[in-house]
Amino acid sequence: MIELEKISKEFRSGRGYVRALTDVSFTLERGKTAAVVGKSGSGKTTLLNCIGGLERPEKGTVICFGADIYSLSAKKLSLFQRKNFGFVFQHGNLLSYLTVFENIAFPLWLNGIAEKQAQLRVKELLKKIGLSNAQAALPHELSGGEIQRVSAARAIAHSPRLLLADEPTASLDTVTGKNLIALMFEMGRNQGCTMVISTHDPEISRLADQIIQIKDGRVIKETA
Ligand SMILES: Nc1ncnc2c1ncn2[C@@H]1O[C@H](COP(=O)(O)OP(=O)(O)OP(=O)(O)O)[C@@H](O)[C@H]1O
Ligand SMILES: [Mg+2]
Repeated sequence: MIELEKISKEFRSGRGYVRALTDVSFTLERGKTAAVVGKSGSGKTTLLNCIGGLERPEKGTVICFGADIYSLSAKKLSLFQRKNFGFVFQHGNLLSYLTVFENIAFPLWLNGIAEKQAQLRVKELLKKIGLSNAQAALPHELSGGEIQRVSAARAIAHSPRLLLADEPTASLDTVTGKNLIALMFEMGRNQGCTMVISTHDPEISRLADQIIQIKDGRVIKETA
């Protein structure tokens, strides 16, 4: 289960003081999917980063599968993240100097999975995302949709307990985006993954078990 208890996050930057999240609370049962919806700048990315241990809120607690993640030491948190979390970032974020195969294998290597087993897993995922013939390609040789498919495969490769996907379809056309989401839901649900997906797209949010609508960093509506 994921439990957020009144988290608040602010930024101070060249643009001054921004309150990105204010008192955000919700819980998500294990194996369920939540969609985070809201306009640009409403705090979706910040919220996903806070849940995934990437952005420490000033106030509140984030409990993932029983662990109060921000009370862990930096080292314990990073071990917890690499084992339990998978991320699909808003802008892909593949490692540019690694091939498609290596990008997908990366979380498996980090988790010490034996080479042979890792290879089988990557091959299986490449097949699933329809990119078996692109395994030796570098990210700059891929289209936006292909990059997001590889990102989704990488996020799920090590069978994380929590998948965090930040507007995974933002840069894709409708059909490609729909296919990617179907694939993510299928891969996630097959392995009992808990998922949090941020999106602008009502069609995607309808597929989730729970919709969390945010505005100016506050939850304005939660629908189960
Ligand atoms: N690193 C940062 N430094 C300063 N301000 C930031 C930072 N990250 C986010 N913000 C600000 O926090 C607010 C929430 O940003 P966030 O990226 O979470 O929104 P979002 O809902 O993901 O938007 P989008 O749909 O455009 O991706 C915005 O006002 C943004 O400018
Ligand atoms: Mg964002």
